[in-house]
Amino acid sequence: MQELERDRTIEEAKDILTVEDFDAVEFWVGNAYQSAYYYQHALGFRPVAWSSLKTGNRKFASYVMQQGNAKIILSSPYSGSSEMSAHQAMHGDGAKTIGLRVKDVEQAWNNALERGAKPVTPITELKDEYGTLRFAEIETYGDVTHKFIERDSYDGIYMPGYKPYKGVLDTPEKGVVRIDHIVGNVNWNQMDKTVQFYHEVFGFGKFIEFSEDDIATQYSALKSKVVRSYNNRVKMPINEPAAGLRMSQIEEYINYYHGAGVQHVALSTNDIVKTVTEMRDRGVEFIGVPKTYYDNIKERVGEIKEDIDILAELGILIDRDEKGYLLQLFTKPIQDRPTFFFEVIQRRGSNGFGKGNFQALFESIEREQAERGNL
Ligand code: FE2
Repeated sequence: MQELERDRTIEEAKDILTVEDFDAVEFWVGNAYQSAYYYQHALGFRPVAWSSLKTGNRKFASYVMQQGNAKIILSSPYSGSSEMSAHQAMHGDGAKTIGLRVKDVEQAWNNALERGAKPVTPITELKDEYGTLRFAEIETYGDVTHKFIERDSYDGIYMPGYKPYKGVLDTPEKGVVRIDHIVGNVNWNQMDKTVQFYHEVFGFGKFIEFSEDDIATQYSALKSKVVRSYNNRVKMPINEPAAGLRMSQIEEYINYYHGAGVQHVALSTNDIVKTVTEMRDRGVEFIGVPKTYYDNIKERVGEIKEDIDILAELGILIDRDEKGYLLQLFTKPIQDRPTFFFEVIQRRGSNGFGKGNFQALFESIEREQAERGNL
């Protein structure tokens, strides 16, 4: 199996942009106030800071939601003639900016531009009573951007311009500790180009997750390659549609998002049974898993620490590779458009993304897609 991993690694990573980890992911949504309620009471994120008319922001309202080290920003515009409102009109709710914490924003910015990245916001220094924060922003796939954030000299919750904020009700967290990986969906024949961008501009390592030979159900298919930072903290699979008898789930996403975008953010937990149980209790809908999935699970994944009956009851998926196993489950899309969803993941040694679960996942997603009349 070690052999297999080596075969699938196309290029090792180099540390060119000093990327250390994910920072906050910013979503542009139609009604940030109400989204914040869902993120808090259903998913377990706490509102910790905001920027709004009441803090002097006359352009948009923005809430910083935090759970463990995972940070999500939810923002909505006050005006109908802003970039944010145009984005909302075209894409609906979606992830706009994937924050990347860097050691040195100058190095990140200069190297990225030199290597062909398209600029959005040049290096900007912001100060408040908590210190100094520097960031810069570049384009990536679709309308998505990356914000390089250097926050070593900053102690505030997110960045200057945001003030501490607390919701009216306290809700316990659901066990999420950090963002594990973020997956992008790109259009036909754009996967290799996108992966090459991360390799050339970021120095990220790249490897094949699966080709159409690995997973192809009767009706739909995808291809996927993964890019990752030198320290393995930032992992970003990139999917593109592949030919099938009917519409690929990636194509459905692109048709409804009107372009490439973030398909899912995986939230890691140290206790997936607790996390999924509590999210379900709060009304989070997860994809259905075929009952037959658990029939021969012991032969497929071997010994695991968790009680399989409990996993089956919650519909949690299990996959094993040469380094260990992982437990994961995917929510249904969390807005009306069949676009963005979350994954909950617990790693027990495995560094993979649940390749072995894709057959089961596919069959399940396709049942939903068929119900929407889009298969
Ligand atoms: Fe994932």
